[in-house]
Amino acid sequence: MDKLIPTVNKLQDVFNTVGQDQIDLPQIVVVGSQSSGKSSVLENIVGRDFLPRGSGIVTRRPLVLQLVNVPRSASSGADSPDKTGSTIAPETRAQFLHLPDKVFTDMTEVRREIERETDRLAGTNKGIMKAPIHLRISSPDVLSLTLVDLPGITKIPVGDQPSDIEMQTRNLVFEYISKPNSIIVAISPANVDIVNSESLKFAREVDPKGNRTIGVITKIDLMDRGTNSLDILTGRVYPLRLGFVGVVNRSQEDTVANKPITESLSAEQEFFRSHPVYRTIQQHCGTTNLAKVLNQLLMHHIRDHLPSIKTKINALISQTEQELSSYGRMTTDNDSISNASRLLKLITLFATEFHNSIDGTASEMP
Ligand code: GDP
Ligand code: NA
Ligand code: MG
Repeated sequence: MDKLIPTVNKLQDVFNTVGQDQIDLPQIVVVGSQSSGKSSVLENIVGRDFLPRGSGIVTRRPLVLQLVNVPRSASSGADSPDKTGSTIAPETRAQFLHLPDKVFTDMTEVRREIERETDRLAGTNKGIMKAPIHLRISSPDVLSLTLVDLPGITKIPVGDQPSDIEMQTRNLVFEYISKPNSIIVAISPANVDIVNSESLKFAREVDPKGNRTIGVITKIDLMDRGTNSLDILTGRVYPLRLGFVGVVNRSQEDTVANKPITESLSAEQEFFRSHPVYRTIQQHCGTTNLAKVLNQLLMHHIRDHLPSIKTKINALISQTEQELSSYGRMTTDNDSISNASRLLKLITLFATEFHNSIDGTASEMP
């Protein structure tokens, strides 16, 4: 199963490159109201500072983020600090689909590029844009996952946002979460009553049985004294088949002070470990647990959808073969021929790899 997710990621790349999206590969989609902590949760899962985040509407285009686990090279020495003071494995690389020739090693540059690319299409004010930004981060420090960061669910237009901004964000969120192969990470801040959680309302509309929704409670550190999220995290308030995980992300103050993410992750661990209530429900607490649950969900999800993914790959192969043979008759368009034949080669290659990794792991499936 370990090999399956990297293969799925490669396939996704091929389809993105050629502008095909017939194959809806499984991905984890993060939803929640504006400033509920979506980008912070994603950053914590990745363990890197790289997303624009903060108060107000910061995420204005979907970000499709592929995390790829790569082995730590034996020769590599100690991790070196990046500009934010975080230690970063020297093998860590980031690449954007819109800048295929550029390799980023500095996460501050990655954040700047996301901002630049957001402004380029969505304008410099508060508008949002449907077209996603594709980013891949490969590192020894990440689990292989595909994640999507979405603009927040917004009620009231700000800046030069159109009056139908609520409808726009709603449609955008639904476009991602309604895909049956999306795993929904529904974020609710602990300091807002869970019955008002927009993300859980959205999730219930597209996944009424809760088969692919995991609840995440952020801002546990900001709850009123004397209150806690025990009942929510243990499923006694809102029934969710896959359950809830509580997390503590960096505060706005930490962000302004450039507190390294490694520090905030250990602070989070300490918060839950030493807390009189939460230390009794460790499995429902913390980013590390969330990442583990997500990775497992993703693999089960891929396994359950293998038959339909296989069917689609085969259909694409025969479609491309047909295109290729019709090009063969009209020999004027050499570029199209070589594009189509390149695509066919790629698809065939990855289909083989995909099938091999499925067959190779069939015995491991529970
Ligand atoms: P998004 O709009 O949903 O992507 O939310 P962001 O991740 O940008 O977070 C919005 C603000 O809330 C930022 O200032 C974060 O630092 C802060 N924040 C997010 N999660 C937490 C948390 O668990 N605890 C605290 N204290 N602040 C948080
Ligand atoms: Na925000
Ligand atoms: Mg955000």
